[in-house]
Amino acid sequence: MINVIKVKDYEEASDKAFEIMKSYLKPGKVLGLATGSTPLGLYARMVKDYKENNTSYKEIKSFNLDEYVGLPIEHPESYYAFMHRNLFDHIDIDDNNAHVPCGLGDDLEKNCREYDEMIDNDPIDIQILGIGSDGHIAFNEPGTAFDSKTHVTDLHQSTISDNARFFDNDISKVPTQAVTQGIGTIMKAKNILLIATGSNKAKAVKDMIEGPIDEACPASILQNHQDVIVIVDEAAASLLS
Ligand code: GLP
Repeated sequence: MINVIKVKDYEEASDKAFEIMKSYLKPGKVLGLATGSTPLGLYARMVKDYKENNTSYKEIKSFNLDEYVGLPIEHPESYYAFMHRNLFDHIDIDDNNAHVPCGLGDDLEKNCREYDEMIDNDPIDIQILGIGSDGHIAFNEPGTAFDSKTHVTDLHQSTISDNARFFDNDISKVPTQAVTQGIGTIMKAKNILLIATGSNKAKAVKDMIEGPIDEACPASILQNHQDVIVIVDEAAASLLS
């Protein structure tokens, strides 16, 4: 069941997300982390909290959702670099405990299998999610099987266009494939916290919460999860009845 929390704007959404996240910042917890612009406010609050309150991540593990295929980790837009720049480099998490899928090498299938095994061994306590304007979660595009595991996927044209802003607004520079946790992998998380802000997410939010559970809107499967919180700002909630 999806519990919806409505807030005014992005800042309030980030405050609320941090308030929920704070209770998981304890030794032994496993965090599921996301990229995109949406969680940046949450990560900024986690860094501030680390600096002001010495909240330690030494015994916390994390698993990111996805990574582009073929982008060197040093590339500023790799999700590995994104996570280091925005969170990992500013807290005391052990590098070996902060996992990001690997989109490099000859055997991506093996990378995917190993990633699922690691998550099975360390189940995620809280998974942070954003949502794509087409309803995708992680890089699970419309049509992805609800029981999918971590896999290699082709990005849809709308996702490539949405993400071109990170690649000099040049669509030809955006990678066309990614390694992503599957929808089945995400659904195993004990708790899920999805944040959606801005009017370009309104349609996806409506389909996720009020639409049929259908692979055409990957996020709609969250209606079947027992513990989901969705934080929406006024713009993203504007089409909800
Ligand atoms: C990418 C990521 C998703 C993210 C989505 C939305 O496609 N793979 O995990 O939710 O972008 O990004 P933003 O938060 O920037 O709108």
